[in-house]
Amino acid sequence: IPVDRFDLVIFGATGDLARRKILPGLYRRWLDGQIPAGSKIIGAARSDFAPDGFAGFVREALAEFVTEAELRDDRLPGFLDMLAYVRIEAAGADGWPELAALIRDDTVRAFYFSVGPSLFGDLAERLHHHGIATPESRIVIEKPFGHDLASAHALNATLAAFFDEGQIYRIDHYLGKETVQNLMAVRFANILFEPLWNAQFIDHVQITVAETVGVSGRGGYYDRSGAMRDMVQNHLMQLLCLIAMEPPHRFEPDAMRDEKLKVIRALDPVGPGDVVRGQYGGNGGQAYTDEVENPDSRTETFVAMKLHISNWRWKGTPFFVRTGKRLRARASEIAIFFKEPPHSIFGEAERWKENVLVIRLQPDEGMDLRVMIKEPGPGGMRLKDVALDMSFAEALGADAPIPDAYERLIMDVIRGNQTLFMRGDEVEAAWAWIDPVIEGWEKRADVPQPYDPGGSGPEDALMLMHRDGRRWREIK
Ligand code: BG6
Repeated sequence: IPVDRFDLVIFGATGDLARRKILPGLYRRWLDGQIPAGSKIIGAARSDFAPDGFAGFVREALAEFVTEAELRDDRLPGFLDMLAYVRIEAAGADGWPELAALIRDDTVRAFYFSVGPSLFGDLAERLHHHGIATPESRIVIEKPFGHDLASAHALNATLAAFFDEGQIYRIDHYLGKETVQNLMAVRFANILFEPLWNAQFIDHVQITVAETVGVSGRGGYYDRSGAMRDMVQNHLMQLLCLIAMEPPHRFEPDAMRDEKLKVIRALDPVGPGDVVRGQYGGNGGQAYTDEVENPDSRTETFVAMKLHISNWRWKGTPFFVRTGKRLRARASEIAIFFKEPPHSIFGEAERWKENVLVIRLQPDEGMDLRVMIKEPGPGGMRLKDVALDMSFAEALGADAPIPDAYERLIMDVIRGNQTLFMRGDEVEAAWAWIDPVIEGWEKRADVPQPYDPGGSGPEDALMLMHRDGRRWREIK
């Protein structure tokens, strides 16, 4: 879908997110021919650059985060020509008139707040004061959207004083991942799965986001957040919503977001027996407490939970979610475990094993459906479970590379499409559900269970499943 010529201002343009994701993402879209000529990318930050200094900075960022071939592309100078830079004080007066002078009248205006949330109010206020923001302008913000319900609500209120909800693009980069969007295609573009997609036929669902990385370099932020706030409140909740929601009537912003919100609101409160927290450290390997230089830290780097959604579709089917750092492998997947057929015509001896649909989100993106078949041979009717395994890379070919989440999301901002962005009420509903869990930990002075770096999480997480006679899929 073509986009209109735009002026995109990146506040915090010299920060990590801009270097790693936003600028390389924009460059790739440029190489793909998606950025219309005459668009401008305006960096705004506190650093002083000599004329052309920002272009040099961007070139260095690209050298680090795009491929050799992309960097050598002869369209690089054209991209650098689109750049401008303003030295600005987010909470002061400097730079704002210069920024106002750079923005043109007949373009889409988007403002990426790639700065800490404490500056959002200052930026919003100054954009209005200097007449830079129009009713059609868009702002893009990133998590953390608050620390709990009260702060999330306050943040939403600050933004609402200056912008309509339709102008606010809250990024959850998981929604920009191709394989996450694919969940909707699998569910709603096939007749095959949806009739079985309920408590009558699904025994349970497992959602895993396992990481091998620790928290080095961002310990300050992480130690105040923990896995529940950093991953569960946003990314895992979004995955849960996409798996559990009712079919929206169209793939449109409010239709989608209304359905996701209903799922969050239908979640039962989680009791202490249904949550496991862990923290890496123990047998060899680096301990989290050393990494954040806080020997007394009780911040969790792992969470596993058993969740119940109280609605007609899901009553009785538990959802198990888990996420953690420094685990054995980087592996994110959703596994749908179907129930056993009601009766076996093959007799007791031929045991049914499992029907599982696994959607691999990353890496090795793909789908795997485990089905029962007859084991070949003359020895009678022997059953065996086999994989109908598909890797997207193989099925789609090498010329369909999986673009980074940010590439898609930034262009959606320019197109004015909010479908893959979180609405304020969704964010608040997620906090309203998470807050009591965290408060419970604080009240009980809960200490997370240690787990070995490079392992699969704390013992109790395994028990959470075992006590129901189920088990987690292996992280590998
Ligand atoms: C971020 C979290 O939102 O997502 C990080 O703050 C986490 O702690 C990251 O590592 C995971 O994203 P991805 O795309 O690597 O799965």
